Amino acid sequence: MENSNVSLTEEIKRLKKERDAAIMAHYYTDGEIQDLADVVGDSLALAQVARTLPNKVIVLCGVHFMGETTKILCPDKTVLVPDMEAGCSLADSCPADEFEKFVKEHPDHTVVSYVNTSAAVKALTDVVVTSSNALKIVKALPEDAKIIFGPDRNLGNYISSETGRKMLIWDGACHVHEQFSLEGIIRLKKEHPRAKVLVHPECKQAVVLLADKVGSTAALLNYAKESPAREFIVATESGILHKMRLQCPEKTFIPAPPEEAGCACNNCAYMKLNTLEKLRDCLRDLAPEIEVDPLIASEAVKSIDRMLSMSE
Ligand code: 13P
Ligand code: SF4
Repeated sequence: MENSNVSLTEEIKRLKKERDAAIMAHYYTDGEIQDLADVVGDSLALAQVARTLPNKVIVLCGVHFMGETTKILCPDKTVLVPDMEAGCSLADSCPADEFEKFVKEHPDHTVVSYVNTSAAVKALTDVVVTSSNALKIVKALPEDAKIIFGPDRNLGNYISSETGRKMLIWDGACHVHEQFSLEGIIRLKKEHPRAKVLVHPECKQAVVLLADKVGSTAALLNYAKESPAREFIVATESGILHKMRLQCPEKTFIPAPPEEAGCACNNCAYMKLNTLEKLRDCLRDLAPEIEVDPLIASEAVKSIDRMLSMSE
């Protein structure tokens, strides 16, 4: 680690203590952020842990909807994010006013929403899911339930084909996960015939069909740890490679290539807005702080709590 990073890291540790703050980080953030965090996890783990933290302040290193979920679960805590601009193309593909219209057009449907949504969309939702628990939660709904699923069309189609449940699916997608190249993965598979293919369910169906394991970031990491295989082709955001390489130093992880040769499309530009400098600044300034309209929060918390109890 460079000297400047060492002193930044020391400053962050000192401020963290002074502010009585906990740092939570998603697996897609840079390795140096993950290494400093008190908790690193997938979307479900971050939601599950939030209420158990004793600290007055939580810094969420991830994207905006994760900060909102944390604030909704912990309304009495100060929830900070290093960069307010860290959004999510998938959450943005589902504006709350349009989703509300869609829901109202189908009043007899159970509304299941992916966690990658705004608080306002969660407030219109019966139960939130993540890629860790979506299959379990949808299977647990009554057999005759009519289901709306939003916003990710790829995850929606995956859940529908795995559970046999017909769903009305919102036409949204993540710009990172839609980019993986089928031909590129097939080519890598030829070069590394023993490699297992790990795929996040936000990827397109053709890529999901190539997978040895489909799952959330935590599920893919776990599979890599437990599998006797030595090589893995990884079709999800590149940040997860940090923990995979750290926890399985004897194994080889090969990032799946994007369709556009030479682009860094398997990096989520929003996640990469989290930097050590901004983390230091937000602990120093206690800003930017996540605020959620209390009326929206009081509805949204019901759909998040339903998810947490259905995940047990
Ligand atoms: P996980 O819930 O699998 O961590 O995924 C979050 C996400 O944003 C995927 O793009
Ligand atoms: Fe959103 Fe895609 Fe980034 Fe995940 S990888 S946070 S879904 S834009």
